[in-house]
Amino acid sequence: MNIALIGYGKMGKTIEKIARERGHQIVAIIDVDNSSDFDSPQFRSADVAIEFTAPAVALRNIKSAFAQKIPVVCGTTGWTDALPDLKREITENGNTLFWSSNYSIGVNIFMAVNKYLARLMNDFPSYNVEMTEIHHIHKLDSPSGTAITLAEQIIQNIDRKTSWVEGNETSPEQLSIHPLRQGEVPGIHQISYNSQVDTIEISHSANSREGFALGAVIAAEFIKNKSGFFSMEDLMRIEN
Ligand SMILES: NC(=O)c1ccc[n+]([C@@H]2O[C@H](COP(=O)([O-])OP(=O)(O)OC[C@H]3O[C@@H](n4cnc5c(N)ncnc54)[C@H](O)[C@@H]3O)[C@@H](O)[C@H]2O)c1
Repeated sequence: MNIALIGYGKMGKTIEKIARERGHQIVAIIDVDNSSDFDSPQFRSADVAIEFTAPAVALRNIKSAFAQKIPVVCGTTGWTDALPDLKREITENGNTLFWSSNYSIGVNIFMAVNKYLARLMNDFPSYNVEMTEIHHIHKLDSPSGTAITLAEQIIQNIDRKTSWVEGNETSPEQLSIHPLRQGEVPGIHQISYNSQVDTIEISHSANSREGFALGAVIAAEFIKNKSGFFSMEDLMRIEN
């Protein structure tokens, strides 16, 4: 498959390695200095573009790829307020977008466990729930996109929680997310249910960036010749 990379930072470079290992060709690389290359035969020869850049530019990049009729796998987090409108446009215009706040297969299994545990804990109000996420010091968005997805899953399943808040909760309806930035940590998410008598905890810890990159390349393989909006739930088909 022909793949174009949009963003050639830590993730772009790891995706390049994994994509080549899986037998794909990298036909174009667009970074901050060569945005005009969207309008190039090399970019147009891509079956899929994989976008990992920064919150402020992701939407523009996706639209630039769509203008060349190239499907996009996007992993950039921190811009998802624009996602509902974009999904409508995708349906109207027949574009293709795969977006996930986390492409790790393990994290997506963890998300299924998170939903299941939240459903169970809905009946046990003596437990309060909170989350801690730890990432490397270069991360631009906070809390992480994954933490927000996990928090939304909890809020959907626990009636006594209606919103998430960064830092300590100021009312019982809030779900506290504590973001920590340390060294080069690829990503840790911990969810704790605390009662007076005990604590139930689940956590996922990424060992490297390769798990995210592999998931993004598998997503690119998945959307080839498809149209519409897709997420890891479509790819992994976890029933829960
Ligand atoms: N969804 C996931 O599984 C997942 C996993 C890891 C990281 N991320 C997210 O992916 C994004 C990138 O992460 P990273 O660690 O590779 O960051 P990075 O800072 O190492 O790389 C970002 C790259 O994007 C480039 N860039 C900036 N503006 C651009 C523009 N207008 N056009 C093209 N390129 C541009 C930068 O020059 C840089 O090379 C972040 O939002 C991060 O949170 C998501």
